Amino acid sequence: MIDPSLTLRDITEVGYATLPGALPAPLLEALRQEADQLIEAFTVHGERSSDFWSYDDPKRGNPVLYRIHNLERQSAQRIASLYETGILHELAQAIIGPSRPTAYAMVTKVPGAAGVPWHRDRATVENSAIINLSIYLDKSTEENGCLEVVPGSHRLPGYVDVEATRAQGPVVAVPAEPGDIVVHDVRLVHGSGDNENGPVRRSIIAEFAADPLLRPSEGASR
Ligand code: NI
Repeated sequence: MIDPSLTLRDITEVGYATLPGALPAPLLEALRQEADQLIEAFTVHGERSSDFWSYDDPKRGNPVLYRIHNLERQSAQRIASLYETGILHELAQAIIGPSRPTAYAMVTKVPGAAGVPWHRDRATVENSAIINLSIYLDKSTEENGCLEVVPGSHRLPGYVDVEATRAQGPVVAVPAEPGDIVVHDVRLVHGSGDNENGPVRRSIIAEFAADPLLRPSEGASR
């Protein structure tokens, strides 16, 4: 069972929390199948919309897909539906209260693909006001470039140098199993390594922002 108050405590104190097995198995399977289809649209069927982000790798000859942006607008119904309703909304509501999704994407890291440079998703926002929820579709380990974080770095000021923060450490690897959801404060300093030659590692990432306008009015019942 997921205890939202413990999750919020971890996010407040260290900037992140793992929710093991948060996704029901049938939903995980459905999302994995749709993720396969979205990726095949690019790799097999030549999809080249501006939402499909890729880079050229001279060793491969073909562009390497690494991110699908505006995921709620793609032709994957079950994945798109989570932007409107369901588990991500329920978790965000339980952790930070009334909130709404503000970004939705899928990250895919094929064998041999490069890591994600160290960064903060956002630097100057309130405490525990905006969180990132990442659904892991595949096993994520240090071998295939799992998330790495500097615990507590979400509390640093907005102008901090992320590379210096990383160098100072400590850097903690955050491995995940398929069906886990990892939540982090968007100010957390984080990145990920290369996929050395492990299996593909895909995650669906959603950003949720607390929305003060959605909070019940204190005087509403009077
Ligand atoms: Ni990020």
